Amino acid sequence: MLIILLTKDLPKSKLSTLRPLAVLVKELIINDIIKTNGGTCVEKDVLTDNISWITVDGKEKLATKNYVPGNNVYGEHLQLLGTVEFRVWDPFRSKLSASIINGLANIPFHAGSSVLYLGSSTGTTPSHVSDIVDKSGLLFCVEISSRVARDFIDNVATLRDNVIPIIEDARNIHAYTSIFRKIDSVYCDIAQPDQTDIAIKNCRRFLNLGGQLLLVIKSRSIDVTKSPQQIYKEEISKLESNNFSINQMINLHPFDKDHALVSAIMN
Ligand SMILES: C[S@@+](CC[C@H](N)C(=O)[O-])C[C@H]1O[C@@H](n2cnc3c(N)ncnc32)[C@H](O)[C@@H]1O
Repeated sequence: MLIILLTKDLPKSKLSTLRPLAVLVKELIINDIIKTNGGTCVEKDVLTDNISWITVDGKEKLATKNYVPGNNVYGEHLQLLGTVEFRVWDPFRSKLSASIINGLANIPFHAGSSVLYLGSSTGTTPSHVSDIVDKSGLLFCVEISSRVARDFIDNVATLRDNVIPIIEDARNIHAYTSIFRKIDSVYCDIAQPDQTDIAIKNCRRFLNLGGQLLLVIKSRSIDVTKSPQQIYKEEISKLESNNFSINQMINLHPFDKDHALVSAIMN
C-alpha cells in the first residue's frame, strides 16, 4: 500500500528502478508476518519431515507439526507459526524427544513411513510419531494394558487416521492380524526384562531387511544389581549376535535416569 501511494505519480521509466526496492519491502513484510505470532517471536529450523526447532518466548524447543490442529495430547504447548501449528515435544515426557535432543543422528521416521511401535502407553510419543509420518504414513501401536490402551484409543487413535491400535502382548506377534505388510522401522519401549528379545522377534517378523530399530533400554527394568553401562553393553551384544549393526547408543541423561536408546539396523 505504501509503495503504491509513493509511486503512483512517477513516470514509467523511474518505476523500473524502484522495483527491486518494492520486492525487498514485500519480503520484509512477509517475514515479519511469519515470525510474529500474537506478540511471540517464533523462528523455524526444520530438522527433518515435520520435526522442527522452534523458538518460543526466546527458548529453543523441539516440536512436531500437529497432525490434528487444535488438539493436544498430554498438555503440551501448541504454537502457531504462520498458518502451521506445532506441538512442543517435551524431552522429560518422551524418550524419543530426549534422544533427538541428545544427538540421535538418524531419525528413521519420515512422512509416509510405516512404523511398528511397541509399548504405546497413553500415546505421548506415538502422537508425535503420528505427526511425523503424516497422512501417507502408518503407525501400528502395540500395548498390553487394556486400561491404558482405552485412553490411547480415546485420546489419540480416534483422532488420528494414521494410527492403528493393537491391544496385545508384544510377545504374541502372531496375534497382530492388522499388520498386512513389512514395516520401515520399529520403536520399542516396553520396559520389560526380556524387551530386547521381544524387539528382535518383532523385527524379524515385520521389519524390512535394512530397516531400523530404536530400542529404549531402562536398565533398572532388566537388572538392578548391575550398572546401567553393563546392562547397555549386554543388550547391545544381544542385538549384534542377532545380526543387527549398531548405529548409535544415546544416554538419556538428564531427561531420564539410567535409560539409553539404541539405534540399530537389521541385516
Ligand atoms: C514406558 S511405557 C511407554 C511410554 C511410551 N512409549 C511413550 O513414550 O509415550 C511402557 C509401556 O509398555 C507397555 N508394555 C509392557 N509390556 C508390554 C508387552 N509385553 N507388550 C506390549 N506392551 C507392553 C506398558 O503397559 C506401558 O504402557
